Amino acid sequence: MKIKLNGKEREAMPGESILELCKRENVPIPTFCYHQAFGGQGACRMCMVEVREEGQKEARLAAACTYLLNREAEVITESDRIQRIRRTIVMLLKRRAAGDPILKELADAYAAPDLEAVVTEPENCILCGLCIHACEEMGKSAIWSMFRGIDKRIATPYDEASDDCIGCAACARICPTHAISMEEKDSKRIIWNKSFELVACRRCGKEYATREEIEYLKERSDYGQENLCESCRKKTLAITVKNYI
Ligand code: SF4
Ligand code: FES
Repeated sequence: MKIKLNGKEREAMPGESILELCKRENVPIPTFCYHQAFGGQGACRMCMVEVREEGQKEARLAAACTYLLNREAEVITESDRIQRIRRTIVMLLKRRAAGDPILKELADAYAAPDLEAVVTEPENCILCGLCIHACEEMGKSAIWSMFRGIDKRIATPYDEASDDCIGCAACARICPTHAISMEEKDSKRIIWNKSFELVACRRCGKEYATREEIEYLKERSDYGQENLCESCRKKTLAITVKNYI
């Protein structure tokens, strides 16, 4: 399927998102709530582009991460209109996460003025929703989006230590603005107001997961049975395969 991308003819696969096409073609588009594991969420609106599909008179704005290409179209990823929108989005996101270096960089790039900061919890959160998604993927749903409007924030129910949380830290690792606080000290991980014991890898001794995470994964699959960290697990697997062939 032919797509005119910034004036150049390109081939897209039906059902492919504009962002996927741009990534393949090395056309940069800023994103916050997109993650390759989950695809686009359309939450942050940072990836806005202009699209005009075959038969349409005017180009309209769309989030590149969620817009799926199903017929011939023209896509523009940089224009005055897009610049203005991204400037506004950066300005609003920076208000929530003033300390984030990526947002600072984007604010300079789009000449976004400073607005008065709002205090958010966790600090620096831009409400992209990736952490909630990661927690759901783990099958836990220990964190939610609470309240509405300016009070909206991500938290455990009633801000209390959640029975569902296994301390896997998938939320903290995926967060684009490093907004989720996590402390690791004295073989303990503290996250979302809960303390977890860290387990050391049987082979290299590196602390690699919480006891609750390992127990949970053992129940669901073979993963974790051998008490090895990811890197030692791969090495063991490579040796087994080598011996086998
Ligand atoms: S804590 Fe991070 S991942 Fe979660 S919504 Fe906020 S910015 Fe996104
Ligand atoms: S990256 Fe597309 S809307 Fe957030």
